[in-house]
Amino acid sequence: MVTLMKHEAAINPLALELNSILDKSSAGPFLSALGRRLFFPRGIIAQAAEAKKTARVNATLGMAFHDGQPLILSALARELPGLKPEESVVYAPTAGVEVFRLAWKTGLLQKNPSLKEADFSLPVVVPGIASGISYIADLFLDHGETMLAGDPWWDNYSLIFTERRGALLKGIPLFAESAGTTGSGTDSGLHSGLDIGAFEKALKEEAASGTVRIILNFPQNPSGYTPTAAEADTLVRLVKDTAISGVPVLVICDDAYFGLFYEEKTIKESLFSRFASLHEKVLAVKIDGPTKEDYVWGFRTAFVSFGSKGLDEASYAALEKKLIGAIRSSVSCANTPAQYLALKTMNDPTTQADKAAFFAMLRGRYLAVKRFIEENPLPRGLQVLPFNSGYFMSFRCKAVEQLRQTLLKKGIGTIALGDEYLRVTFAAIEETDIPEVYRAIYSSV
Ligand SMILES: Cc1ncc(COP(=O)(O)O)c(C=O)c1O
Repeated sequence: MVTLMKHEAAINPLALELNSILDKSSAGPFLSALGRRLFFPRGIIAQAAEAKKTARVNATLGMAFHDGQPLILSALARELPGLKPEESVVYAPTAGVEVFRLAWKTGLLQKNPSLKEADFSLPVVVPGIASGISYIADLFLDHGETMLAGDPWWDNYSLIFTERRGALLKGIPLFAESAGTTGSGTDSGLHSGLDIGAFEKALKEEAASGTVRIILNFPQNPSGYTPTAAEADTLVRLVKDTAISGVPVLVICDDAYFGLFYEEKTIKESLFSRFASLHEKVLAVKIDGPTKEDYVWGFRTAFVSFGSKGLDEASYAALEKKLIGAIRSSVSCANTPAQYLALKTMNDPTTQADKAAFFAMLRGRYLAVKRFIEENPLPRGLQVLPFNSGYFMSFRCKAVEQLRQTLLKKGIGTIALGDEYLRVTFAAIEETDIPEVYRAIYSSV
């Protein structure tokens, strides 16, 4: 059923066509007013693609050629010897370089074997995971609506969901007050986990509004936590129960730190693998990329993939058109050389060994932090949140900004989050420096 709502009268016929497809799918209940207006015009990009196939003289896109090659400055040709001009200076397709998209999809299936059970889209390239989250918020979140997220969350969620989209970001306490290591306890922070009761309560409360939108980020920023297999099963069951009760659920998996799992008992696959084939009323979105997985933070290249039992081929295509409409109307397309460099890196024979060495280095730092915490009594007033993965660990404490300032005077930079948390990026500290850094934190409290 096509419902007339939210500025529908002014909507372009191409957008209406997409809406009529999506309204019958698991994405229908979530489309925002902007999401309903977006479409991919049959304009310059589409006409240029048509000309590329058949035209002898291609006078479409705004680029300049000589002897069939894009013009390229000598300095650039010299600085980028591994890239042909058509891999560096030309515009990339709005949805991203096709071979890169296909390679990423193949990689997702290798890294997440249970994804074979699910149907999911060809990933679309976006300029960084942050932008992917922002585009999904554009499509699926309206002013006054609610996005659930584990609390504490990555601070950019507040800018994206609250400030940009005018939505309500509602925190689900990730851990019970007593979780993790406290001054009086001996728990290393690994033995206590998610506050599953808080997730259950939040989903139930939100379900009363008629739809649930939730963003899950594991390994998590800032806590550094990834669920155990049992916790993951429960989270999946809670989402499934919500859908079975008739309430559509949008689950966004922010997999920025995917792969950095340091402990036997945590999950090793993205929860997207489970949500993508869970239920007709569950729309799963995976946002990931080489930013952290392949150590290319400044490349600004990432992916958005959709998966749902409630999406057919036509609705996957319609969703992709909505998303590339959002890309076309903002950055137009992602950066071309970064896509080709990331692709060549994925296919290079040295990459697996380099990544294994980097992983071992980061795991070594994680273990050094864990060892310090286990061997040294925590000062009163400091609590370690459970952590087992990723880049970070966080302390819960009072007078956080004061503590940060004190540490800065000792030459140690940390992040104060709100008035309750101090985040430490152990991934950035040499293993040999970790005892000194943590001794300074303990003595400064
Ligand atoms: C949880 C989380 N999501 C997304 C991102 C952003 O990734 P990108 O640099 O690809 O935009 C970060 C980076 O710090 C992050 O911590």
